[in-house]
Amino acid sequence: MAFMRFFIKSYGCQMNLYDSRRMADALACAGYETSADLENADVVILNTCSIRDRVDEKVFSDLGRLRVIMEKSSKDILIVVAGCMAQLRSKDILRRAPQVNAILGPQNIHKIAVVIDDLIKNRAMDIIVTMSMDTGGKFQSLFANACGRESVSEYLTIQEGCNNCCTYCIVPFTRGREFSRSVSDILEEARNLVASGVREIMLLGQNVNSYSGGNFDKQKFSLAHLLFELANINGLKRLRYITSHPKYVDQDIARAHREIEILAPSLHLPAQSGSNSILKEMNRGYTQDEYLRCIDLLRSYRPDIAFSSDFIVGFPGETDWDFEQTLKLAKKVRYAQAYSFKFSPRPGTAAAQMDNQIPEKIKSERLLILQKLLNDQQTEFNKSFEGSQLNVLFTKEGKHKKQIVGRSEYSQSVSVYANTTFVGDMARVRITEVASHSLVGMLE
Ligand code: 5AD
Ligand code: SF4
Repeated sequence: MAFMRFFIKSYGCQMNLYDSRRMADALACAGYETSADLENADVVILNTCSIRDRVDEKVFSDLGRLRVIMEKSSKDILIVVAGCMAQLRSKDILRRAPQVNAILGPQNIHKIAVVIDDLIKNRAMDIIVTMSMDTGGKFQSLFANACGRESVSEYLTIQEGCNNCCTYCIVPFTRGREFSRSVSDILEEARNLVASGVREIMLLGQNVNSYSGGNFDKQKFSLAHLLFELANINGLKRLRYITSHPKYVDQDIARAHREIEILAPSLHLPAQSGSNSILKEMNRGYTQDEYLRCIDLLRSYRPDIAFSSDFIVGFPGETDWDFEQTLKLAKKVRYAQAYSFKFSPRPGTAAAQMDNQIPEKIKSERLLILQKLLNDQQTEFNKSFEGSQLNVLFTKEGKHKKQIVGRSEYSQSVSVYANTTFVGDMARVRITEVASHSLVGMLE
């Protein structure tokens, strides 16, 4: 075989990372080898994202860099653009980067090995473009390809796509309608992960808490139901899930947080805005009060639960008053951590066509104010653990000798000086030092 080594670069969210790893599985099963760097690869796969405009431009600049490498080395590299941006902008990609050999939408990444085999067999072949919404087929073949995984913590996609149609969001156009994997497939994948040494599983879904997967007896399982099942797997030490929609938060999930010992006491619950009129324009399906009621419900079942969130500033029509409501909401919740973004109009979405687009300057000013507040909240949250204990699952060696690093139940990065044999273990750690984004501690 003329082409042997592949390199995958992943952009965007955890689901893309999961997809990239599944492409790596498929290629490894087909006899390809991984390349540690892009320069030495024979096949380069860019698994792209399209959530905001900046990410698209990064892909085009990487494609330009690849062309230079090919010209300099006069090496024939096969280039595949996969993922959400590939789904949306195939024509632009082929026009601006004619060196691309194949375009693969996110619901077609399981075809990667077949596509590359075809390209190798017939170099003169036309560009291969595969963009169907084949979500069921994707999971069936990914499952067949699953290889052993070596990390302590792994992702597992349980649900994909979205039926909500938030007016700013491109995801329904890239990953299609909601699809929930079957309970048996998920349990089998989780058991395989644990058998290969994985100790923490992060369940993924665009709307993970609207999960509704069938069991053998055709009974539908909710996310809470699924979590109770997964918690029975021997050897699994921690479960997380991301991303939840406030509309589907219910008592069952709150109960799961109280009753499942290995379920991390943290919840990523994007608010996006605190203003009721902006939330309505976003088509989010809840008001500020309803969002706060979700928070109260979860805190009443699990008082030590910590919240994280996503926010968008400068959505069309957002006034100073609307923005103030977002600040108010954040102050009421007191987040452990949160991401915030300037609204980025995505072609084809309803919000991109709305009147009253907000000038960049105002978006930037609001973003700075919100980020300062969220950063302060994160620092305060982290500082509250100084002198107390956290449960840390050690995932890797640290930068220093005899140092190991792990994650607390609140996803904080924690480092301690201890033997590397502790990697994969969970232990109580007394926190001795707190920086804003990481903690240092001592094994108890
Ligand atoms: N502009 C800015 N931010 C966006 N997000 C999604 N779409 C857009 C957009 N058009 C943010 C949301 C979402 C996170 C993954 O990205 O906050 O929760
Ligand atoms: Fe990007 Fe969204 Fe696609 Fe993830 S699902 S890769 S965040 S556009």
